[in-house]
Amino acid sequence: MTETFSFNAESLDKVKFELSKYPEDRKQSAVMSMLDIAQRQNGGWLSKSAIEHVASHLEMPYIKVYEIVTFYSMYYTTPVGKYFVQVCTTTPCWLKGSDEVVKACKETISEKQNELSNDGLFSWMEVECLGACVNAPLVQINDDFYEDLNYENTKNVLQSFIDGNPSPIGSQTGRKGSRAEEYVKS
Ligand code: FES
Repeated sequence: MTETFSFNAESLDKVKFELSKYPEDRKQSAVMSMLDIAQRQNGGWLSKSAIEHVASHLEMPYIKVYEIVTFYSMYYTTPVGKYFVQVCTTTPCWLKGSDEVVKACKETISEKQNELSNDGLFSWMEVECLGACVNAPLVQINDDFYEDLNYENTKNVLQSFIDGNPSPIGSQTGRKGSRAEEYVKS
């Protein structure tokens, strides 16, 4: 994360690719992709400077870009951990035990959501349905889903990141895809 933001060479390549999808006089259509590129470069969140940079790149008023940032839940305006844990607590996940997942996050990361862990490695927050209810409860860590969670295996997943050897993504009980639980071991 930086105070003053501008796209680095790697991001500029991605920006160029996104802009190539639209006519020059419609370049503002790339705003969401560009915000995502900026967010990834900026350590997972969008500072005021990053939003301003995207706005100026697309010749858009800052407030218009800010409105987009604050409307969609995939953009963050405060710092997040290197590993950002989004815990689904919507009804299917809640019925399958998301309270235990939240408990594990509180113990390992921080008591309150949206706070960095002491080592700055993690932050966590509750989110609405992540669209994988069949393998509830689950979390999204950065771009990946960790599914079929309970208190124990959530702790194990978080510890695997601390150890620098992240657990495989997907079901943490061995379930294949979203097959019924009785087929886990087959
Ligand atoms: S309710 Fe959690 S993924 Fe849908």
